[in-house]
Amino acid sequence: MYELMRPWLFALDAERSHVLGLSALAALGALPGPLQPAPGRSRTVMGIEFPNVVGVAAGLDKDAIAVEGLARLGFGHIEVGTVTPRPQPGNPKPRLFRLPEASALINRMGFNNDGARTIAARLKRLKGRRSRLAAPLGVNIGKNRDTPIERAVDDYLTCMDALHDCADYLTVNLSSPNTPGLRDLQYGEPLTALLGTLKARQAELQSRSGRHVPLCVKLAPDLADADVAAIADALLEFEIEGVIAGNTTVTRPQVENVRHTDEAGGLSGAPLAPLARQLVARLRDRLEGRVAIIGVGGILSAADAQAMLGAGADLVQIYTGLIYRGPSLVRAIAQVGRS
Ligand SMILES: Cc1cc2nc3c(=O)[nH]c(=O)nc-3n(C[C@H](O)[C@H](O)[C@H](O)COP(=O)(O)O)c2cc1C
Repeated sequence: MYELMRPWLFALDAERSHVLGLSALAALGALPGPLQPAPGRSRTVMGIEFPNVVGVAAGLDKDAIAVEGLARLGFGHIEVGTVTPRPQPGNPKPRLFRLPEASALINRMGFNNDGARTIAARLKRLKGRRSRLAAPLGVNIGKNRDTPIERAVDDYLTCMDALHDCADYLTVNLSSPNTPGLRDLQYGEPLTALLGTLKARQAELQSRSGRHVPLCVKLAPDLADADVAAIADALLEFEIEGVIAGNTTVTRPQVENVRHTDEAGGLSGAPLAPLARQLVARLRDRLEGRVAIIGVGGILSAADAQAMLGAGADLVQIYTGLIYRGPSLVRAIAQVGRS
């Protein structure tokens, strides 16, 4: 079915077809009936039971408008966002480009989203209907573009406060290439100061609500080995529950001479797979199972997912694979490793 629809969707501007696809998913989610995750191997990760290994990566449903539709496709978890404290429009269009010869995308969306208050209200309504949703829900949080980087921590705290009650886990996004200065928070004192403050707020929110909401940190795939080691040590020191490895790359592997390769932004899809797997493997070696790893980047087949799990991931997420391979990829990956 998706094979038939793809040429039609790909004839449209990339962002326009994304908006259309999300609306279709929102409609699919509104239909009555159960939202069963695809059959797969269930796993307890960060203390949460995931019905299968495959989740939706952040950025696909930034505003949490199609959560139930995504659940109906069979995903075992859904990560919405990136959510910033205040709504913002993102970068000027065009800002999303297809590189079909490479099964890749380049985006410089820039955290366009409805803001924490609106998205929290949407998720609370969803939670009211939550008995339908068996898949855990992650909320990915970030900073507004116009917040100075020295005050980034305030934006993360605002988002934690607003979204804690609606999330099964929260992801601290430190790795989008499209918000100036953001990735600098992955290093040294800014990183340890940020993690210390967020962990303290997590404990406060837990004592107030009685719920423990694990924190994940999402990293760039472009980190040097020494930086990966330093970050891993900080994750251990502050007892961060999970790491998402990783975001899009600012490098351009395997896409020389491909149309749109020179567009500014982050590259996702097939060419990212080796980098993402390498990041997962390095983290696994350093973390030795003490922090959960969610592997994401360039997973376009069940074999790619298997390789990511083999490199050390506990769960995987997909975005670009869904665009190029369609919804059947979800069920195919969910089957991976099923005994
Ligand atoms: C159009 C687009 C928008 C994205 N927006 C976000 C975002 O808001 N926050 C985030 O953490 N990652 C975002 N990502 C990154 C994805 O979550 C994922 O890490 C990356 O695309 C690699 O996975 P993939 O190769 O399966 O697409 C975005 C990716 C794309 C293609």
